[in-house]
Amino acid sequence: MTENFIVMDNFLNKGYLKKCKDEIRSLEDSFKLFELPIYVAKRVDLDTLYMGRRSDSPILRVIEDSLFSDVIKILVAAKYDPYFRLFGKTNFHNTFITAHLPGEICSWHTDDVLPNGLFNGELLNYVVYIDMDSKFTGGNIEISYEQVDNIKEKPVGCYPDKEPRLDDVIEFKDNRFVIFPTYLWHQVPPIKCDNYESIFDGRISINGHIGIR
Ligand SMILES: [Fe+2]
Repeated sequence: MTENFIVMDNFLNKGYLKKCKDEIRSLEDSFKLFELPIYVAKRVDLDTLYMGRRSDSPILRVIEDSLFSDVIKILVAAKYDPYFRLFGKTNFHNTFITAHLPGEICSWHTDDVLPNGLFNGELLNYVVYIDMDSKFTGGNIEISYEQVDNIKEKPVGCYPDKEPRLDDVIEFKDNRFVIFPTYLWHQVPPIKCDNYESIFDGRISINGHIGIR
């Protein structure tokens, strides 16, 4: 199966990366539990938090510039997948800081359909791995290209009707950018960490979706 994702290391320059990490630390009290049957994590929804004052957030500014940079456009243009092909037509993206601690889950799912089975407008998933000098092991994104039916009657999101075959693993590494079509099955197995004191000892990412509304 042909690899159907883009990985770019050293996504943010050193100065930007430091600003992003400083902002993440400053938002420790803004993380809220986000809980679905297939997904448990703590999140900051930056688009909501900074509504009406986006320029106050270094992360929002940096991510917007970096996501739609010429380098990313060239990398995306080299992909034949129709979801990548529509990148130039996208008109929205969202931005979360997500923290996973041991026991929290991100099981196999896709991100492109509503519970009623209709396309939700989200074409691409992006993730920037952020290592806050964390202590965990794991945290890799696992991807399947298998066509497994969704069970769409569940309340939120979509669920495979069987465990998809594991095809690719994208290892967690500080400042690594990953982007892939939302229809791909993906998961992040629970991280391992013997003892932790704060969410910053867990798996941190800046992530979101890019799409058409
Ligand atoms: Fe996802």
